[in-house]
Amino acid sequence: MRSLALITASYLPAIVAAAGPPNFTFDTLWSLQTNFWDNFLYPANLKQINTTDDSIFAKDVQGRVDTTRTFPGRELNNEYIFGLFSQPETFSLTGIPIAYNITQFVASQNIASATTVITFNSTSLDILLPLTIDTWIAFNADGKIIQYDAVFRWFGWLVQVLPETAGKFGTKDPAEVQSKLTTLLAEGVCEMSDKYCTGENLQYESKEQCKQFLTKETRFGMPHELGKNTLFCREVHKHMVQYRPKEHCSHIGPSGGNMCVDDKSYAETVMEAYYPQSWVAYGYGDDNMWVLKH
Ligand SMILES: *[C@@H]1O[C@H](CO)[C@@H](O)[C@H](O)[C@H]1NC(C)=O
Ligand SMILES: *[C@@H]1O[C@H](CO)[C@@H](O)[C@H](O)[C@H]1NC(C)=O
Ligand SMILES: *[C@@H]1O[C@H](CO)[C@@H](O)[C@H](O)[C@H]1NC(C)=O
Ligand SMILES: *[C@@H]1O[C@H](CO)[C@@H](O)[C@H](O)[C@H]1NC(C)=O
Repeated sequence: MRSLALITASYLPAIVAAAGPPNFTFDTLWSLQTNFWDNFLYPANLKQINTTDDSIFAKDVQGRVDTTRTFPGRELNNEYIFGLFSQPETFSLTGIPIAYNITQFVASQNIASATTVITFNSTSLDILLPLTIDTWIAFNADGKIIQYDAVFRWFGWLVQVLPETAGKFGTKDPAEVQSKLTTLLAEGVCEMSDKYCTGENLQYESKEQCKQFLTKETRFGMPHELGKNTLFCREVHKHMVQYRPKEHCSHIGPSGGNMCVDDKSYAETVMEAYYPQSWVAYGYGDDNMWVLKH
């Protein structure tokens, strides 16, 4: 595995003082893409959780994940993209990424578009799980990720078949599985909250109140609601509280912070202008609806 520093250094000659995004070769974009996945795999991802200048993300990166929401800035992205899948001992549905296979790839200018099948070792469910992620990634002149868009392909299907694939729930009845999963996930979130969200970061009066809220007062959530006011969303964010309790505790609390909330409608989500750079290369579609107006 090549180190990020080496990779970055070898691109420096490509920087030219012209306007607009840098123009990289296909070969360079392929290397940047594979470098991203090399760092995504466990245990390489452990080194990316804490933000340093070696981060694979640019300081002001803008990211979006369709099943969750948008994530601004380097610190948040390091924690979510690398921290979420780096805890084999903590209960999680997906576990840790151990291998990847890029099955589709095109690249132009500073943009790489790939489909990657990632093998996750779901250490909690004791299964190996293929997860398909479609990504669009744009790199700045230093080879760092300046914006990305990730789509979890077939994710709804995966969530639906996961329990029976795992066979860990002692039943294949969807309602029973859901009920067991609800208890399991709520207990996991409450445990993290109890351990890390204390003092001024306190979210729940007690473990009981936490469990009551998560199992009775908020919904479980559909596969596309990992960024909504759901238990499913808090399950995702529970992995982050240990990194920065002050930032992340509210996400697993009753308010959901600004992460587990029902803030945007379907249409608002689909039509939101979010990206500084157009995803259409070489100026062919600079003013499309996803591009921020300058
Ligand atoms: C990239 O290539 C395009 C099209 O050839 C050109 O207009 C633009 O100036 C180039 N940008 C850089 C940063 O070199
Ligand atoms: C990240 O930083 C924290 C606080 O400085 C430290 O306790 C932790 O060990 C670091 N983690 C890694 C993986 O370097
Ligand atoms: C990708 O998957 C194919 C088919 O299973 C396998 O032959 C190949 O070695 C894999 N490539 C990588 C880089 O893992
Ligand atoms: C998956 O994780 C389990 C538990 O840590 C480990 O025993 C197993 O060897 C791992 N499987 C693979 C293919 O890495």
